[in-house]
Amino acid sequence: MRQHVNPLSQFFQLPLSLPSKNVLFRESHYPIHLDIGSAKGEFLIELAKKSPDWNFVGFEIREPLVSLCEKKRIKLELDNLKFLFCNVNVSLDEWLSDLDYGQLKRVSIQFPDPWFKRKHFKRRVLKTNLLNSIAKSMSKNGEIFFQSDIFKLFESMTNTIDKSRYFNRKDLGNLSFMDQNPYNVKTDRELFSLKKNLPIYRAMYIRNSQLFID
Ligand SMILES: C[S@@+](CC[C@H](N)C(=O)[O-])C[C@H]1O[C@@H](n2cnc3c(N)ncnc32)[C@H](O)[C@@H]1O
Repeated sequence: MRQHVNPLSQFFQLPLSLPSKNVLFRESHYPIHLDIGSAKGEFLIELAKKSPDWNFVGFEIREPLVSLCEKKRIKLELDNLKFLFCNVNVSLDEWLSDLDYGQLKRVSIQFPDPWFKRKHFKRRVLKTNLLNSIAKSMSKNGEIFFQSDIFKLFESMTNTIDKSRYFNRKDLGNLSFMDQNPYNVKTDRELFSLKKNLPIYRAMYIRNSQLFID
């Protein structure tokens, strides 16, 4: 399987019409946790087992991974979890517009692809448009959680969200970064980074009461 795909290639610019929450979930009114770049899906599978009164959606641009995750999910009979193939920068906004206002409670973006070269920065997933799509669907106190083991990438995400009028960084007192993942389930990359003793940078942002203006 390819390690990376170029999200800006023509193929991934085609907007996909994704199934609505009523089709995806048995209890479609439950609060939603959305994981961007869900990869092998283990993080959401564990969360979905632990929290049957939430719905979880993993969005992933590498289609073979989505098929793999869906096979695992079906085998485990988890009906509060779904994995969807798409480029979130192209197709997420429309999918979110179908949710009840305030139903989107959590978004996680964990160890996104770094795209180190300056000329590739524009391939990075967190952009103002994506943030605005999330802000539009989230009511007060909804949360966005980031983590990465690459400081420059973490900083580029926090710089983007710090410019948004819709989110405030959670105050950690004396700490600069959260020392734990708040969901008590580690992602694959998080486990790898911990094993290699790499630093992990984490932050939580909370949706404030500012009304969304287009
Ligand atoms: C480095 S992996 C991290 C996977 C997982 N979150 C973890 O922590 O183990 C980043 C994932 O984001 C996916 N991804 C990158 N850009 C994306 C996009 N525009 N839309 C959806 N998924 C994307 C990649 O295919 C990859 O699986």
